[in-house]
Amino acid sequence: PPRAGAPTHDGFTLLTGGLGGVGTEIAAHLLRTPGTRLLIVGRTPAAEAVVPPRLRELGEVRYARADVTDERQVRAAVEAAAEAWGTPLGSVLHLAGTLVERPVSELDTATWRRALQAKVRGAWTLHRITADHPVGSFVTFSSVNGFFGGAMNAAYAAANACLDALAHYRRGLGLPAQSLAWSMWRERGVSRGYGLTALTEARGYRLLDVTAALRSFDLARSLDEP
Ligand SMILES: NC(=O)c1ccc[n+]([C@@H]2O[C@H](COP(=O)([O-])OP(=O)(O)OC[C@H]3O[C@@H](n4cnc5c(N)ncnc54)[C@H](OP(=O)(O)O)[C@@H]3O)[C@@H](O)[C@H]2O)c1
Repeated sequence: PPRAGAPTHDGFTLLTGGLGGVGTEIAAHLLRTPGTRLLIVGRTPAAEAVVPPRLRELGEVRYARADVTDERQVRAAVEAAAEAWGTPLGSVLHLAGTLVERPVSELDTATWRRALQAKVRGAWTLHRITADHPVGSFVTFSSVNGFFGGAMNAAYAAANACLDALAHYRRGLGLPAQSLAWSMWRERGVSRGYGLTALTEARGYRLLDVTAALRSFDLARSLDEP
């Protein structure tokens, strides 16, 4: 398909879940572009959150404690970063999420909520906040489970399907949006220690090492598709 150049945006990037297994790799990748400024948010208190030294060595990184489902907290973090850097929020990468694996029969209300909160409510919070900023890129990290479903993954699949739907919804409003439906990142984040990778591959899913995943990331962002 036709490709555009790599997206460039003024302003800083808000990365939710940026200290997670996948988030750290994405952060390092983004920081290799000179001038990148990253605001990472997570629920872990700032005093306990460890920003890997390799990230700080690569470029400008701020960490703020903010639950992505709490609009007030995220707004405060964004405003503090905008003031400190003297530049507005320019792009959003939403990686915060929780993998909840459970048979459908055991999915009670609390479990559904836990599975949906960070992804769905979080994405909606970001959708609302970005309305007040010149955001040129809005990318959510979704999963193949959102498209194909998956055993034990009904709630996780629903959460990801919602992210994909939000991308279409935003595009319908003329707003930037992409939802990247990943297969498994090898030994990263929620996939670390997963024992059934051979079965995953036998079922036709590709396991991505970091290099392949980052290439996919760059390619996907150059395509004008939700
Ligand atoms: N790893 C894979 O193979 C894979 C495959 C497909 C899709 N994905 C998607 O990629 C994204 C990142 O996954 P990962 O594997 O890196 O997961 P991870 O290591 O568990 O990281 C998730 C991050 O999200 C943050 N988070 C969770 N709830 C939050 C909330 N309410 N507010 C703010 N931050 C929150 C966590 O930080 P705190 O605990 O500090 O809040 C954590 O840093 C997820 O959306 C996942 O579904 C991953």
